[in-house]
Amino acid sequence: MSENVKIVFEGKTYEFPVIVGTEGETAIDISNLRQMTGLITLDPGYANTGSCSSSITFMDGEKGILRYRGIPVEQLAEHSSFIETAYLLINDRLPAKEELNQVSVLFNDQSLVHEDMQNFYNNFPRASHPMGILSSMVNALRSFYPELQIIEEEINITVTRLLSKVRTMAAMSHKISRGHKVVYPRPDYKYCANFLHMMFDTPVRPYQINETLVKALEVFWILHADHEQNCSTSTVRLVGSGRVNLYAAISAGIAALWGPLHGGANQAVIEMLTDIQNDGGNYQRAIDRAKDKKDSFRLMGFGHRVYKAYDPRAKILKKMCDNVLDELYITDPLLDLAKKLEEAALTDDYFIEHNLYPNVDFYSGIILRAMGIPTNMFTVMFAIGRLPGWIAQWKESVDDPKWKLGRPRQIYTGPKETRYIPIDER
Ligand code: ACO
Repeated sequence: MSENVKIVFEGKTYEFPVIVGTEGETAIDISNLRQMTGLITLDPGYANTGSCSSSITFMDGEKGILRYRGIPVEQLAEHSSFIETAYLLINDRLPAKEELNQVSVLFNDQSLVHEDMQNFYNNFPRASHPMGILSSMVNALRSFYPELQIIEEEINITVTRLLSKVRTMAAMSHKISRGHKVVYPRPDYKYCANFLHMMFDTPVRPYQINETLVKALEVFWILHADHEQNCSTSTVRLVGSGRVNLYAAISAGIAALWGPLHGGANQAVIEMLTDIQNDGGNYQRAIDRAKDKKDSFRLMGFGHRVYKAYDPRAKILKKMCDNVLDELYITDPLLDLAKKLEEAALTDDYFIEHNLYPNVDFYSGIILRAMGIPTNMFTVMFAIGRLPGWIAQWKESVDDPKWKLGRPRQIYTGPKETRYIPIDER
């Protein structure tokens, strides 16, 4: 396609080039629009705005496709590990065996957190949400590791440090919130097993590593590893565009993820299912409320800005819920309820007409419950998984020769110039 797009404004015609991506996605390049015409675009929620070109993740919302660096997420979930997938996203290729071993060694080297950080943890009020704590602590990492991130080597060490320490810090916040002693990582455990160990090992009951749960955690984190220009990733890019340090950009991404319309939905789904269960299992009432325009209630874990088909991640997680619960002989009434709710919603005219399908958050909480993860830690689990994506997108943006400070425009609708009225005259 070599056509230009023509805009006619005040009798003059302006031409703008059409940009075509590898998968045939098309966009009008309006980077000179204001300069040429004096116009800006208005696009609340950026639903039609491409903020960058990216070679990291491809998704097709109509067909339910998700690929990292071209590889379908289904293949990665089946064959890869979270660390290998993180390497793929950040370095643009799968690692060789030796490189992967080297990464494991580096992760072990970096897995401890400065002991002074415990003082911060101990001083958060007990009721603090773990997402608020994680966001603050990631920002605080900069004070403990203030190296400049200018040369490649320093960026690499910061990336390794973040990926390894965030896992330790998340487990620490759980332990401290329980009033338990912090558990140190074990050098003989890999990434996911080590996390479960740090979360659940106690002096009175040593944690036994369960391979079914380790695999489930690998898959959970692989499926969350990137999702192109979503709310938190765009936040990381925007904050990073001011050339702030990586810790601060990631800390902002964690804060953005916290919201219930974004990553916080995984916690909200379990709370919603629990409320329905307490209401005698009346899921039809939840569906009716979600359809009622006078009611602000939405079916949590349903709908997506891009997917207008079944979210491919939700498909994998739904199947995994059954496998994990079967293999561990667990029965969870919330899984049965979730399935009934899904079935009723998918055959309801409102949900059909609005293309509302379960998203990644609908079934993920059931798996996290099976692992023993407390509900208020669910979004932290999402954040650990999304970290490689945020890092990859940040790296791509700072390396981009077309890099620009993020700075949208607006249409002003306030008062015209008006006189200041002294206080006695008001
Ligand atoms: N329940 C009921 N109605 C819904 C839902 C829902 N979960 N989601 C969207 N709708 C309806 C809206 O009411 C609106 O209806 P209308 O056109 O008749 O007024 C229409 O669908 C479009 O909704 P928007 O909010 O404009 O769509 P948008 O693309 O902005 O929303 C979002 C996407 C925020 C995810 C939305 O579907 C939602 O709130 N879902 C519930 C929260 C959730 O699960 N979030 C996690 C998303 S995945 C992630 O971020 C990790």
